[in-house]
Amino acid sequence: MENNFLWWRDGVIYQIYPRSFSDSNNDGFGDLLGIISKLEYLSELGVDAIWLSPIYPSPDKDFGYDIADYFDIDPRFGTMADFDLLLHEAHKRNIHIVLDLVLNHISDQSTWFQASKSSRDNPYRDWFIWRENPKGKQYPPNNWHSNFWGSAWKYDKTTEQYYYYMFLKEEPDLNWRNPDVYKKMMDVFKFWLNRGVDGFRLDVFNEYFKDDQFRDNPPKLGIRPFEWQKHIFDVNRPEMMGALKDIRAILDSYPERYAVGETFLATTSEEAAKYIGPDKLHDAFDFTFLECPWNSKCFSSIITRWNSLLSRNDGWPNYVLNNHDQPRSATRYGKREEDERMKVAAAMLLTLRGTPFLYYGEEIGMRDIKLKRNEILDPVGKHYWPFFVSRDGCRSPMQWDSSENAGFSKRKPWLKVHPNYLQRNVKNQKEDPNSLLNFYKNLLTIRKTTPALQKGSFVPVTSNSRRLLAYIRQDVSQTVLVVLNFSHHKARLAMGSQLRGKDWQLLLSNKRSLVPEIKNNWLPLVGDEASLYIYKNKK
Ligand code: NOJ
Repeated sequence: MENNFLWWRDGVIYQIYPRSFSDSNNDGFGDLLGIISKLEYLSELGVDAIWLSPIYPSPDKDFGYDIADYFDIDPRFGTMADFDLLLHEAHKRNIHIVLDLVLNHISDQSTWFQASKSSRDNPYRDWFIWRENPKGKQYPPNNWHSNFWGSAWKYDKTTEQYYYYMFLKEEPDLNWRNPDVYKKMMDVFKFWLNRGVDGFRLDVFNEYFKDDQFRDNPPKLGIRPFEWQKHIFDVNRPEMMGALKDIRAILDSYPERYAVGETFLATTSEEAAKYIGPDKLHDAFDFTFLECPWNSKCFSSIITRWNSLLSRNDGWPNYVLNNHDQPRSATRYGKREEDERMKVAAAMLLTLRGTPFLYYGEEIGMRDIKLKRNEILDPVGKHYWPFFVSRDGCRSPMQWDSSENAGFSKRKPWLKVHPNYLQRNVKNQKEDPNSLLNFYKNLLTIRKTTPALQKGSFVPVTSNSRRLLAYIRQDVSQTVLVVLNFSHHKARLAMGSQLRGKDWQLLLSNKRSLVPEIKNNWLPLVGDEASLYIYKNKK
């Protein structure tokens, strides 16, 4: 069993937002040495890989997602030597490193863009998308919209042309159709792979190519201006597939390397699934899961759809309840400071067939911070205030203990700490056997030692219930039954023919310590219960 454990498929990936994780030099900003100091914690938690949000030099207009240099480390995070040390220390503990690569766009402060905008005949000119409208300079080249706001075209007086950007105007899109850019992008992969990096999360990868004729997007109804058009000419262009094939070939030329894509605008699981395959990405995110309300029916239908879509191309699912762009699951689903629901969510995430992604602080149920208007840092939050909740909420410093600044730093952190840190922190939860942290830890241990929970098949037991979600994970030697109650009220599960008369043992529960009495083939559950049962298959 040990031998064919594949870290990105059978393991668990933990996303770190580096500036908020741990600050080693007390400048209020998390860094690489801070992460190294917490590897023991991550190893005890039981994760197999960490994905780091961008750590490259950046003017921080989009908090690191506006990279100025793909081949270096931002000095606020440390040095390249610190990064090598992180790789070494992580690998020593069997923790893999996944880097966030933002190759669709680059910072406007990068030397490439500065050269490109300096003159129309600069060798870097064509590294970006420069256009004009024959009708005159007051008209943008076409109707494309930026995801964050307004036209996607910014007029530049120096050379009297517009350049294209999908996100912030400080994040011009690279021209992937230019062969030098293309080659350079492939070099970025090789550079980090050669240093020993294990995988990548590809930011908005399906945005790399735009229509070669720059045709207008057709209109549609929507709420935000960006939704007023069908994004058929600026996203998901067919040339993407060739690039994925090349990227995959590079990854496959090293042992056990991996890439997961952020499928931008994937409003359906079908769109995400088409990018997964043996000559495409290992995985792509299906964000519909993260958008479910607290309703077992919604999760259940996504799980069924995702499994069936991926079984067609032999793809491997993944599941995410949190990331740096969305309000935290504990804020979305949790009731004040109560964590029982979060245990149900954790039990689901960590027992499904697919790679679970955790987001720092999820394991202690961190809630989003609330910010006054003048405290907002996120450019999107600032622009759309008060209609959009700023993304700062889910990016606050990790709550390690009850000392000043939650043990994150001795100096005032770059973003404020949630006031609940005095009670809600790693130290307190370590000491409490019933804490959310210990529940996550137990789940991770059980997942690691129960092969059926890694590669075992997934068989739904409930499908249409708003309250209950139950399924079986099974391999040749064992069967695990996962029973989750999404309501605060008691419920019962009908033990159908495949479940009856088995010698069920309790693996883990947040509500009981013994297998309950099963009367007339009904398994009872109390409110907010998450229980895992197992029986060994007869040989
Ligand atoms: C997606 C990232 O997750 C988000 O944080 C960022 O603002 C945009 N891409 C632009 O890079």
